[in-house]
Amino acid sequence: MRVLPSGYGFWTGPPVFSAVKIDGSEKSDELAPHPLHLPQYLRSNFEVTLNRLNGGLMRKFLLGVIFTVLVLVLGGLGTAILGFIPTHANVAPPRWEHRLANTSIDASMERHAPHLTNPLPPSDQNYQDAMKLYTMNCAVCHGTLDRKPASLGKSFYPPAPNLVSDPPDDPEWHTFYTIRTGVRYTGMPAWDQTLSEQDMWKLASFLSHMEKLPPSVQEYWKTNFGVDAPAGEEEKK
Ligand code: HEC
Repeated sequence: MRVLPSGYGFWTGPPVFSAVKIDGSEKSDELAPHPLHLPQYLRSNFEVTLNRLNGGLMRKFLLGVIFTVLVLVLGGLGTAILGFIPTHANVAPPRWEHRLANTSIDASMERHAPHLTNPLPPSDQNYQDAMKLYTMNCAVCHGTLDRKPASLGKSFYPPAPNLVSDPPDDPEWHTFYTIRTGVRYTGMPAWDQTLSEQDMWKLASFLSHMEKLPPSVQEYWKTNFGVDAPAGEEEKK
């Protein structure tokens, strides 16, 4: 029995080969490829096997992904529900957490905070107002203007930075946004319900210029708080 090949490959369906009966007996319907078509037969079989194998691998891969996601979600939920996440705030965050959190805060600010210009002129009066606002609202966490450590500063997780010994070197819009909207998952409140826009700008401007205040304001600081105003150059010495 001889059948001429009617084409191979993807588009024409399974190849049909010239075939001979294996043992020539009438009962046997098992066909072997004609020796001349053996190479095509083998190649075609190999492709079919590869495709089947690929299908299986893809399914296994997807199942693996779903399984991993499930384990992560359930593991995370379990860790929280079973009480493995510590809640105490009286320790310092590890350095990697500090770095990661700060990087993500800066990136988020860059994305969300509008780059506004301070609408108020930098006047002595505005700086003096800011010093009062700071003393009343911020010093308890961020350190007093007479350079005493903040009573609550280190009691937060993450701790509140001392803004007098280490004033922010961020642009005003950045500090304004921090004050107005607070910092989520920390002790830094959003002040938009408590302070006016003007007061928040006064504070932002004061903090951004704390190391380069005009001499008259430095004088005011010394008279009222008994210590010198911070000066950038002094601290670098
Ligand atoms: C209840 C405590 C608390 C009070 C009150 C508070 N803050 Fe904060 N503040 C924090 C904490 C905690 C952080 C640290 C957040 C962090 O690690 O990102 C912070 C961060 C900041 C930062 C960012 C500092 C930086 O270098 O990234 C600024 C600016 C700031 N506060 C300004 C203020 C001002 C202005 C006030 C007063 C109107 C104020 N805060 C009142 C707790 C407080």
